[in-house]
Amino acid sequence: MITIRVLTEEIISTINREGDRDEKLLGICEILSKGIDHYDWVGFYLLDPGKERELVLGPYVGEPTDHVRIPFGKGICGQAAEGEKTFVIQDVTSQDNYLSCSVNVRSEIVVPIFKDGDIAGELDIDSHIKGPFTKDESIWLEKVCSLISKIM
Ligand code: SME
Repeated sequence: MITIRVLTEEIISTINREGDRDEKLLGICEILSKGIDHYDWVGFYLLDPGKERELVLGPYVGEPTDHVRIPFGKGICGQAAEGEKTFVIQDVTSQDNYLSCSVNVRSEIVVPIFKDGDIAGELDIDSHIKGPFTKDESIWLEKVCSLISKIM
């Protein structure tokens, strides 16, 4: 079991290495999905610069999803973008406003990424198990997203 400290160090060195933003974001998806057993889909949704209040799918690791564009307010991702806050859904069947990516998904966490005070994107993680996310984990993912804001 790799520790959170090691994963954080790997993420920081990915952020600081040479390469473009999307290569780095994909590298972070790989670190998270390999490092934490219950992370079954890890990806980024980014603000579409051409469209106001719409998210577009960025780099990800996991099954392909139909949800390539998500308006603010729609699904867990759209609600997190609109509310500018972390959404932790321990059981997706409890949600009416939810966009299913795969029948295997049981839970989801979405963490906004800010740049200069404005939302620039989000980290979206799906799990195949119910109720896996701890409070410490969501605080850590918020810290990871604040590190990521450097490359947004
Ligand atoms: N479940 C998300 C949609 C994105 S997929 O999980 C990759 C939502 O409800 O917004």
